[in-house]
Amino acid sequence: MWRRVASVSHLTFAQKSIVNKDVCKLKFWEAFSTGIPRKEKGTFQRDKTPFITFVLGGPGSGKGTQCMKIVENFGFTHLSAGDILRREIASNSADGTMILDTIKEGKIVPSELTVKLIQKEMESSDNYKFLIDGFPRSEDNRIAFEQIIGAEPDIVLFFDCPEDEMMKRVLNRNQGRVDDNIDTIKKRLKVFSALNLPVVKYYLERGKLYKINAVGTVDEIYKQVYPLFAQFNFEQQV
Ligand code: ADP
Ligand code: C5P
Ligand code: MG
Repeated sequence: MWRRVASVSHLTFAQKSIVNKDVCKLKFWEAFSTGIPRKEKGTFQRDKTPFITFVLGGPGSGKGTQCMKIVENFGFTHLSAGDILRREIASNSADGTMILDTIKEGKIVPSELTVKLIQKEMESSDNYKFLIDGFPRSEDNRIAFEQIIGAEPDIVLFFDCPEDEMMKRVLNRNQGRVDDNIDTIKKRLKVFSALNLPVVKYYLERGKLYKINAVGTVDEIYKQVYPLFAQFNFEQQV
């Protein structure tokens, strides 16, 4: 799969995306068909190849804020890995305490657990367009996704934001998160540069990365994001 994707580097971005989607299709749907039997949903677009966007950026870089706008305009399903993990804590699952302790420390939850939770969300969605936000957080996350889901992203967004701006935004977020405090943010920023930046580099080298300048107003930033999705001619919501 990887060799075939690498061999299309001479194609345009849109052509590459079509090839990548075809290459990924088989394993992706194989992965879906081996899980818990799911009831067929009339509107589930199984005939459509999934379109996967990974959304990367440090804590507070504005990933979630921009994802909301992409959802509104292009009808994506937004899967925030952090939100999925927080829901797992709230559901009192067996892994809840471990996840909470990991988040408080700003560390990364074991990849297999996170990927399986993402997989469950994808399987139960009627959509074929996914924004996977805050994932992969590490090379280990990335490899686990490839192995478990058997797919790779069509595009990868990277919200590039200076640390002092991220720190300011996180401290003003006011959502009552256990990790939005100065001590945990410092740890999260360190984890981000040690473990997430290698993932950014990985996708940059493969021509999949779209770096967005994440400083400015929400609308200014979205002006850079919008054309990336508009070129695919998704059926637009508004
Ligand atoms: P992330 O998901 O990357 O952690 P969020 O989207 O939650 O980031 O944004 C973090 C905080 O910064 C939120 O309170 C959000 O309202 C705010 N925010 C998002 N984008 C901007 C921006 N461009 N300028 C100022 N504040 C922003
Ligand atoms: O993306 P968000 O800021 O919501 O993530 C909050 C925390 O969730 C991270 O700091 C990390 O502890 C955990 N997380 C993780 N693996 C991911 C995404 C988030 O362990 N892929
Ligand atoms: Mg977020």
